[in-house]
Amino acid sequence: GSCTVLLDGRTVRSCLVLAVEVDGHDVTTVEGIEHDGLTALQETLVELSSFQCGFCAPGIVLAAHELLDHEPHPTRRQVQEAISGNLCRCTGYEPIIDAVLAAAGQGDAS
Ligand code: FES
Repeated sequence: GSCTVLLDGRTVRSCLVLAVEVDGHDVTTVEGIEHDGLTALQETLVELSSFQCGFCAPGIVLAAHELLDHEPHPTRRQVQEAISGNLCRCTGYEPIIDAVLAAAGQGDAS
């Protein structure tokens, strides 16, 4: 999932999309969601030390960003499903899920 980008606001694996398919569409990388510094989601992920090596971070950040754009108050299950295409070898996912829920203002939604 580390090649994830937003294509017209929806996550796609950039390695599976041909360049000609994005002609005329908006492509946003993880750097593109930041405006004046990190987003609230990114700040929360950092504050809660949700990542270890960070290799999975771009894909997970974009997947969670997309989720929160469409569902500002997700359940734990929705967060799990949203980030499910991203492999993380370090964390066991729980700190990441907790941070996404915290960023959504939910301590421990189930
Ligand atoms: Fe290392 Fe996710 S923090 S792969």
